[in-house]
This record gives sequence, structure tokens and C-alpha cells, in this order.
Amino acid sequence: MTQAKQRCLTVDQIGYPLNAKKSVISAGKSGTFEVIHSVTGKPVFQGETGPLQPDEAAGTAVCSGDFSALAEPGSYYVSLGDEISAPFVIADNPYKELHQGLLKAFYLFRCGCDLSEEYAGPWSHAACHLADGTVYDDSEVKLNSTGGWHDAGDYGQYTGPGAKAVADLLLAFELNPQAFRSPLPIPETDGITPDVLHECRYELEWLFKMQDDRTGGAFHKLTTKQFPALNVMPEDDLADLYFLPVSATATGCLAGVMAMASRVYRPFDEVFADRCLEAAKRAWQWLLDHPEVPGFKNPQDIGTGEYGDEQDLDERYWAAAELFRTTGDETYHTHFKALAAQQFPKYELGWADMGGYGTFAYLLQDSAKGDNALLNWLKDGLLEEADKLAAICTADGYGISLTSADYIWGSNMVVMNRAMLLLIAYHLSGNDKYEAMALDHIHYLMGRNPLDISYVTGYGDRPVMHPHHRPSVGDSVADPVPGLVAGGPNRGLNDDCMMEHLQGKAPAECFIDDELSYAGNEVTIYWNSPAVFVVSHFVK
Ligand code: G3I
Repeated sequence: MTQAKQRCLTVDQIGYPLNAKKSVISAGKSGTFEVIHSVTGKPVFQGETGPLQPDEAAGTAVCSGDFSALAEPGSYYVSLGDEISAPFVIADNPYKELHQGLLKAFYLFRCGCDLSEEYAGPWSHAACHLADGTVYDDSEVKLNSTGGWHDAGDYGQYTGPGAKAVADLLLAFELNPQAFRSPLPIPETDGITPDVLHECRYELEWLFKMQDDRTGGAFHKLTTKQFPALNVMPEDDLADLYFLPVSATATGCLAGVMAMASRVYRPFDEVFADRCLEAAKRAWQWLLDHPEVPGFKNPQDIGTGEYGDEQDLDERYWAAAELFRTTGDETYHTHFKALAAQQFPKYELGWADMGGYGTFAYLLQDSAKGDNALLNWLKDGLLEEADKLAAICTADGYGISLTSADYIWGSNMVVMNRAMLLLIAYHLSGNDKYEAMALDHIHYLMGRNPLDISYVTGYGDRPVMHPHHRPSVGDSVADPVPGLVAGGPNRGLNDDCMMEHLQGKAPAECFIDDELSYAGNEVTIYWNSPAVFVVSHFVK
């Protein structure tokens, strides 16, 4: 557990783009502040903070000090009275390395291959989970199960969450290709296909294996019966693997992400694009053949993540949208329109609520293809959502779109998902207030938050050091695997460690950097992926 003294002056511990809005947030203190050049030690800017205002989520009064006028590249820190902030830079392209790190984390999450020193540095380890998995039904069929990414701090692999992660990365690439020009590098780097596509293909090849060849439906997950102990390295986790039963939510996600992949990969590899489309169509047919399916429940002897979700209309909606966008086939359009008329969240991007991806797919396609009334309705709805979020940002002391109630398990996914929605709203409307607000979400993630912590391992002055992540615990390297986004504050205090240390804390302070805190300090691929999306927008 790390117990550094909390600083009251917080900044984005990476930094600020040259011409962006820049501010420091101060908790409990207001007044004249200075921005000091780290090398010369000289003040280069002086300003006044605003008045202190109560902030419910942080449980204290905060104010901010604007230094946007400082647009000279360099390394700085802020001082106010006897307080100083973390160092940060002002630079033309400050998030390039962070972006590479967040993306490289997916390579470090890989299952089923050696992570060599050449690409993984000190976090290299031998190949893991190489045995066939058993289908968890009466057939006892054994299937090849290798590949893909581990889900999180555990070694389970889950179809829906995996699809969300790939969808975020592919969307990031579709909208911000400029951010993906540099090699990561990874073993497949070839200077032709961008590495983000190589990395996503590693997961997509595994997702093919999650499609039950007998029916076209997708197995919900592939895991051992129980989680291994926290210090077990992946290659030492030798318990039997099981393909858990097909679910509609997993099948909808598989159809959605495969249809999307078919479109994105086509310019690079037609054969692969055809395979993806074929898988998407088979999964879609399974959904048509199974209109009503109960949500997935863990069988009694399975203790790994359930990812239960009773509502599958949103996954069907996403699948129909991507199949229509990719193929232009009116049959999918008809299904999409019928699904759009039903009630379920259409702007959410969580592992349980995938409707937002369906809405994005419909709105981001060539508009000539869509139905005008439906396009306008969905766009108006999206901008209404963005305005609701913008109102929360304006009222929030740290400038983000979370209310006190939103600090739940994986709150950093909520932070990044909402920034994603703001960026899509910016993309569709051109209103740059949404873009500026999305950037404030990065600042929060990277240290400008009530705990003065960077929630990304390996990045920032005071990053998370003890994530609930088996390889980081089990290896002999002092630093955790880098580039991982921690779950973040969780007012539900859903683990014993949080219960012991965080009773009575304000929502945004319900976080402890302790490897035992799985409900706040675990890491997952689908908390990293929206961060890649958001940061990619700000990378040149
Ligand atoms: O959505 C409700 C919200 O309406 C309500 O106000 C709030 C009150 O606590 O709860 C919200 O639901 C929470 C949900 O996450 C939000 O996505 C549940 O309480 C909370 O229990 C649930 O936690 C999930 C957790 O598994 C337990 O099921 C996390 O989202 C999910 O990310 C996490 O996933 C685990 C996998 O199972 C296994 N692998 C690691 C991974 C990360 O911890």
C-alpha cells in the first residue's frame, strides 16, 4: 500500500497541450498561485484561483486556477503558499507516450504466447493457458482455447468485455488514425498494417474460437472454475479451462465486433475481413433463431466473473447497426430500425450496455445510407446526453461528468466512456466545448483528482503502484506492469480492504492503492480501451 501525503494542488501529471485550456485544482486553499519553471526555478506565470466551492464527490471545497495563457513548451510545477503540485509539461504533443503505453498494455495482457524481453522488457514471461478447454455441457467436447487477452487482474477471458475492448480500439483507429502511426512495437510490427490492428487481431483470432461452431452462438466466457491465488503467474495457472455456455449478450457482441472488424480490416486484408463478416453473419443468425434468451448465470461450481446481463436488446441493436454499416444490406437496416424503437439505453458503452456502439455505428456511417428521421432522432438524443454530461462537468470541482452516485466499481471506465461520448458529440456537432470537457477527463485520470494520483501504472509523478493484477503481484519486478488503468474510486467499498480503510470517505476518495482491493484497484482491458480512444483524439 502506498501512503504518500496527498497534495492539495493537483494537475495532470503528464501535462497540457500548448494551446489547450490549462488549470490547476486546489482543495481547501485559494489565492495567488504561480507556475514555476522546473529547470530555472523561476515563476513564469502568476494568477488568482477562483473562490472555493463545495464539491460533494470530493467531500471538500475546491477552486481552480487558470494558466491557459502560458503556452511556452517546458517543464513546470505550480505553487500556492507553501503547497506545490506535481511536475508536468506543456508540450505540442504531450500524450504520445501515454497513448503508446495504454495501447502496449494490450500486448502485456496477451494469453497463450511468450512475452519476450524484447517486447515486454522486465515484464516478460512464458506462454500460458495452452491446454484445450472443455465445453461446459454434456458433450465434454475439448476445443482449442489459446490466444486473446486476459480480462483483468485475473486470467479469465470473457466474450462481451473482450468485444467492448476491441470496439473501442477500432473506433479509435477509425476516427483518429493519426495517433496510430508509430510502431509500438510488437512482434507483428511490419510497417504496413498499423500495430493497433495487429494487436486487435490477436483478440479477434481468439474471439473466433469463442463461436460455437455447432450453432454460431458465442460462448459467454472461457475461464478456470475459480480464480487462482493473487501471486500466481499466468504460466503457473494450470487449472482446467472451461467454455461456459452460449449467451445472447456474448453472441450479439461477437456479431457487432466482427462486423466492425470486417469493415476496418478490409483495406489491409480481404481474406481476414471476409472471415470476420462470415462470423458476424452466423452469430446474427443465431440471434434471429433465439429471440428470447435468459441472461447468463454462473453455474454453481464456477466462481469467476459472471458479467451477468438480462438485457440483450442493446447487443442485438449494436450487431444490426454494424452489419448494416459494413454491408449496406437493407435487411439489417430493417432489424436495426425495429430495435431502435424499443426501450433500452442507446448511449451507454459499458460491458453490460452496448447500445452506444450501435448508435455510433449508425451515426458515423455515410449519412446517405441511413433513415433521415432516425438519424436526426439519434443525433439529437446523443447531443442531449452530451449536454447533460456538460452540465455535470460545469458543476463539478474537477470538471468531470460524474455525480457522487457514479463512483462505482470501475468508475474510471465511466470517466473514460463519458469522455468518449463527449468526443463523438464533438465529432458530430463541431461544438468544441465537448472536446475541452473530454480533455478534463484525461486530466482527472492522470492526477488532477481528489487523491492526487495517476490512475495509469507507470505514467505520472504519483501513479498507482500496487494494482490487483496477478502478474504485477507475482513477478519479481518492483514496478507494476505499465500502462494499466485502475478501476478507480468505488463508493460501494465492495472488498474487505476498502471496507477496512475507507469507511466514511467521500465518493471520489473511496480508493486505496493496495493489491488486495479488487473492487477499486484492479485493472481490465475494457478500462484501458476507452482511455486509448479518448487519448488518441489528443495525439498528433
Ligand atoms: O449499475 C449499478 C448502479 O446503477 C448502482 O447505482 C451501483 C450501486 O453500487 O451499482 C451498479 O452496478 C455495479 C456494476 O458493477 C456497474 O457496472 C455493481 O454494483 C457492481 O457489483 C458491478 O461490478 C462488476 C464486478 O465485476 C462484479 O460483478 C464490475 O462492473 C466489473 O467490471 C467486474 O468485472 C470483473 C470480472 O467479474 C472478473 N474479472 C475482473 C473484473 C474487474 O474487476
